[in-house]
Amino acid sequence: MTDSATGRDEGISEGRIETLRAVRGMNDIFPDEAEVWLSFEAIVRDWLARYGYRNMRTPLLEHTALFRRSIGAVTDIVEKEMYSFTDALNDEHLSLRPEATASTVRAAVEHSFLYGGPQRVWYTGPMFRHEKPQRGRYRQFHQVGAEALGFAGPDVDAELLVMCARLWSELGLTDIRLQLNSLGNLAERRAHRAALVRFLTDHVADLDADSRRRLETNPLRVLDSKNPAMQSMIEAAPRLLDFLGDESLRHFDAVRAMITEAGVAYDVNPRLVRGLDYYNLTVFEWVTDRLGAQGTVCGGGRYDGLFEHIGGKPTPAAGFAMGVERLIDLMRGADRLPAVRLPDVYLVHMGERADRFAIRVGEALRDARLAVLTHAGGGRFRDQMKRADASGARVAVIVGDDEADAGQVSVKDLRSGEPQTAVALVDAPGFIRRLTAQAQSTPQTGTT
Ligand code: HAM
Repeated sequence: MTDSATGRDEGISEGRIETLRAVRGMNDIFPDEAEVWLSFEAIVRDWLARYGYRNMRTPLLEHTALFRRSIGAVTDIVEKEMYSFTDALNDEHLSLRPEATASTVRAAVEHSFLYGGPQRVWYTGPMFRHEKPQRGRYRQFHQVGAEALGFAGPDVDAELLVMCARLWSELGLTDIRLQLNSLGNLAERRAHRAALVRFLTDHVADLDADSRRRLETNPLRVLDSKNPAMQSMIEAAPRLLDFLGDESLRHFDAVRAMITEAGVAYDVNPRLVRGLDYYNLTVFEWVTDRLGAQGTVCGGGRYDGLFEHIGGKPTPAAGFAMGVERLIDLMRGADRLPAVRLPDVYLVHMGERADRFAIRVGEALRDARLAVLTHAGGGRFRDQMKRADASGARVAVIVGDDEADAGQVSVKDLRSGEPQTAVALVDAPGFIRRLTAQAQSTPQTGTT
């Protein structure tokens, strides 16, 4: 019998209904937390707009071949971390996207998006990697990414870095440092690769099984092994930076000079190779010590060869992506989370005519841009008032049948202890605004 026939897939075993849980490493985001996300996204949207980046959306599913060709077949992401499956309906090999640079470039090539010239785009959304879940590392996580498509110069690399520095400061985050490196061009990487293979072959006894295999297939990937036992050997390996020619060095120096001009501090990290194969020249990561092991909040670089790899014309490009969960975690640690937005009004209503009138009252207040939480589900007046207090609203608007008949509402300031005031519905928004404005200008001394 198959699982579905026994019901095990549906969480039913031996007639008992088990509680179903989310997939490991995939998070539910409840409203208090989602508000933080919304305000983070609002800051991010505004920041990106000020640099002229425009939003773009691509599918969550792509052909697996896209990621093999772009990120590289011999990378942790493609070898171990992709959610891949065969679509049984048409025998297509598909994967949930582990990142969105490949999709962005695929879409740009497919739709001749750069026909009229270079483009700056950004995206946000979930990405999927089957990694071992821990703080800051999830199987469904979210990125905000920016891609500058069709730009060759170091000025765009510098712009991307200066942008990130500005965002950290606008989010109130300090302690994020920039690590910078250059991966040169293809010929330089080939020369480095030959030296690296010689070095690794001499140290083959120190390599773990993965790295021995990669020595044959993709030796640069040995350098981003996280195996602690290999770190001192990796430290001693030939550095790509030492293989750079004049042109690559000029590009690197220009990026460094421009970000220095903008006041962005950085460290050159010659060991920084990134975990994806598409990079050349500038690569970078923004790192912090405040998040434990998963300290990289943003990574990116130049990927001038990727368009061709995906079947497009040679097109220079550069970009970055940041981990939203990690940044929000940092904001929480730095006590920079925005306040949760509370309703302005809790609308209490009792009586048959009052219940109908309350609908009109709620809409009239919302016309005046007030946030109104209407009591639902009936119940005694006292219980409704308790709900009003618990809601955090500044004001309760109370409607009974008498008020409904008179076209009035009673407004009660929930913090002052003052008796409620009857006002005509047309005057209610102004009255409530004055109360809430007073509340903002007088400091609160505890709740009453
Ligand atoms: P990446 O370094 O693989 O680069 O990911 C970028 C960021 O996403 C990381 O620095 C981290 O903050 C976050 N991240 C990655 N994996 C996880 C995870 N499992 N859980 C939580 N956060 C995670 C890229 O994805 C490239 N597409 C960046 C890029 C854009 N390069 C050029 N353009």
